[in-house]
Amino acid sequence: MQRAHITIFDTTLRDGEQSPGCSMNVQEKLRLAHQLDLLGVDVIEAGFPIASEGDFNAVQAIAAAIRRPTIAGLARACAPDIDRAWQALKDAAHPRIHVFLATSDIHLQYKLKISRQQCLEQARDAVRHAKSFCEDVEFSPEDATRTDPEFLYQLLEAMIEAGATTLNIPDTVGYCTPADFGQFIQNIGQRVRGIEKVTISAHCHNDLGLAVANTLAAIVAGARQVECAINGIGERAGNAALEEIVVTLRVRSDQYPYETSVFSEHLFATSQLLSETTGVSVQPNKAIIGRNAFAHAAGIHQDGMIKNPLTYEIMTPQSVGVPDSTLVLGKHSGRHALSLRCEQLGHQFDRRELDEIYRRFVVLADKIKTVTDQHLQELIRETRGAGHRIPPAHVEAHPPAAASAAVGQNVGYFQKSVPASAGELHSSTLSLTPVSEHHGEQEDYLWGV
Ligand code: KIV
Ligand code: ZN
Repeated sequence: MQRAHITIFDTTLRDGEQSPGCSMNVQEKLRLAHQLDLLGVDVIEAGFPIASEGDFNAVQAIAAAIRRPTIAGLARACAPDIDRAWQALKDAAHPRIHVFLATSDIHLQYKLKISRQQCLEQARDAVRHAKSFCEDVEFSPEDATRTDPEFLYQLLEAMIEAGATTLNIPDTVGYCTPADFGQFIQNIGQRVRGIEKVTISAHCHNDLGLAVANTLAAIVAGARQVECAINGIGERAGNAALEEIVVTLRVRSDQYPYETSVFSEHLFATSQLLSETTGVSVQPNKAIIGRNAFAHAAGIHQDGMIKNPLTYEIMTPQSVGVPDSTLVLGKHSGRHALSLRCEQLGHQFDRRELDEIYRRFVVLADKIKTVTDQHLQELIRETRGAGHRIPPAHVEAHPPAAASAAVGQNVGYFQKSVPASAGELHSSTLSLTPVSEHHGEQEDYLWGV
């Protein structure tokens, strides 16, 4: 059966970056963007170019360097923002301008101080303006889920006429339940004239812990793009976690007949690279990529795992890139093992750079018994700080088959397919060292026109 494709729109570098402590500089964003490309996301929202010089430069650098995915830049519904976004995006192979304007009465009255009619006209002018530069235009009615539905349908129709190609429906304040949000998306699919010409997208916040559930409900109701962030970072309680959406679609493909282009075996490395870059670690029990996600502590569980991993695991750690803990790094380890572990943590080096890392590694390993992931990350940071050029994780072309060979093939439990091997069992018990906390400065993003 042909499975519908779900476009994965990654907003780690935009909405994600808005979460406290998660702001990133140009080099950091570029490195993450290379990793997101490797991960296989369809769209990278690289930033909000009008927000700061740094964000403009980051979007421009990503647009120039990352050629496979669409690169999106955010703009408020006004000409200066859109012009600035286009300046940053114009060299992208696949640029997208993402325009947003609040539409709920509470935002119109208190924040923007404009009427519904003014809102509609401003949004229409903005989308037309964006369209004059770029074929691919996304429009988001901010606070859509608290907007009067009849007004929202009217406004969305106007956006389609003005040339929007994607209509993104944000649950900006994370108020919806899955039943609400699914119904909301379904109503849009049925009530908005011309909706079949555009892609419906969902953008869910996690204030009630329902962002992923709401996103899945939106897919079932007809959304074909989902906006999400690695580790679920984003404003306040965050955005829907990319890794949870993608893996749920694979593990429960019996309920979700959809596919994505994400190579799930890169999820762990991407999560690690983000945590290491921002200094914001994920909770240990975080689904998919938390350090306890594949740890089994209770005797009964351990017994079950030894007899058959399917007793307590619904996916293999390898399928989401959790490294094999049996590979212990110490003074007897070689360059190959070191390079492999670096790769699993989201870093790839050429020979010369690996030599430098290896030289430092040997000195450290001589002093301590075991070099943990945390040690290794510090060592990479130090080497970088010492002025050695560490390139971003580079982009590889994957054969199309690789995507389906990821999680979908070894979900086991519900589909009763391939059981995990003894090697997979070992890595289930690994314990990962959390990265240290540090809080960078948060950019002030000029919300509201
Ligand atoms: O949450 C939100 O409404 C947003 C929009 C800018 C899409 O992030
Ligand atoms: Zn948001």
